[in-house]
Amino acid sequence: MADPQQAERDYFSNEPPPKDLQANVTLAREFIQRHGDAGRRLVLVTSGGTTVPLETQTVRCIDNFSAGTRGATSAEFFLRQGYAVVFLHRQFSLLPYSRHYSHNTRSFLDYMREEDGRVVVDEQHQADMLHVLRQYTNVKREGRLLILSFVTITEYLWDLREVAQLMRPLGPRAMFYLAAAVSDFFVPRDRMVEHKIQSNDEFSQAADGAHGTGRPPAARTEGRKLVIDLEPVPKFLKQLVDGWAPDGIIVSFKLETDPSILVKKARYALNKYSHHLVIGNLLSTRKWEVVFVSRLEGEKWIRVPEHRRTKSFSGVPSLVGSADASARQDQSEPSQS
Ligand code: PMT
Repeated sequence: MADPQQAERDYFSNEPPPKDLQANVTLAREFIQRHGDAGRRLVLVTSGGTTVPLETQTVRCIDNFSAGTRGATSAEFFLRQGYAVVFLHRQFSLLPYSRHYSHNTRSFLDYMREEDGRVVVDEQHQADMLHVLRQYTNVKREGRLLILSFVTITEYLWDLREVAQLMRPLGPRAMFYLAAAVSDFFVPRDRMVEHKIQSNDEFSQAADGAHGTGRPPAARTEGRKLVIDLEPVPKFLKQLVDGWAPDGIIVSFKLETDPSILVKKARYALNKYSHHLVIGNLLSTRKWEVVFVSRLEGEKWIRVPEHRRTKSFSGVPSLVGSADASARQDQSEPSQS
């Protein structure tokens, strides 16, 4: 198996940092310092799916499934418990608080009407919106939520590494709650073509090298077929646990579609990375059941009782951040991930 430290050096020396990395680091440093000095607990919540671009000037990419419901909802619960939250999310995926009114089949304008030349919230939505608005306003006033965004796997990993290292001095007061759906395969920079991949042979770029490296492009047309040959993304959970934040509390998620392997794979991850908790979920039931797998407590299922599986706007029942969550918490179901 490849040495994880070498894999980290190789990855970050080959894949250039995102343009907004320094700006993100400046914001995160101030935020972490301020809340660290105030003795507050901090959590980095990652949310949404990472993409794998196929071209440098990206027209096409491979996306990872996630709407950001788990991350955005959980962030609200952490904020309610007094945490300061760094919310590292996929651009345009769900956000804490606004998620109640975005990404569903209704427009946010449907919650409003005109009255005497002014915009007002409809009577039927007043109570719910006031409840959400009060929480949001409190969090904003206390400056307890920092929102950062990524799109690609490489942007995500650069941000994760930098923020984790900034949180390192907080020791166990820092938590990492990794709900983002992270790509396992990618196109390395030196195997990525510059321009849009052409479907017509006559316009195809030379298939004998990307960026003049001599390495074959990872995505190319052969005849009329698109051939994609991805490479593995190193599992950076190992580096997070051992190097970037060794004293932090680390919670990872495990997403599967086959129920028969979920717990086995969650246990395997816990043993392999030696962190604190793996939360397993199945794609089809993730809205109302999860399994916690930890060394201290073994395997523990948390389920929203049948009668609380209320329908959201799109008819999908919901699991929110804790077992006693109320039905109002997850009313948004995005139209796409
Ligand atoms: O947003 P929603 O629609 O609510 O959906 C929520 C969710 C299903 C996406 C979420 O609950 C979830 O399960 N997220 C984790 C998905 C995932 O990446 O699972 P995985 O089995 O591929 O990875 C397991 C762990 O390894 C993850 O914690 C990930 O951070 C880590 N990983 C993954 C890939 C990689 N190259 N390096 C990693 O360290």
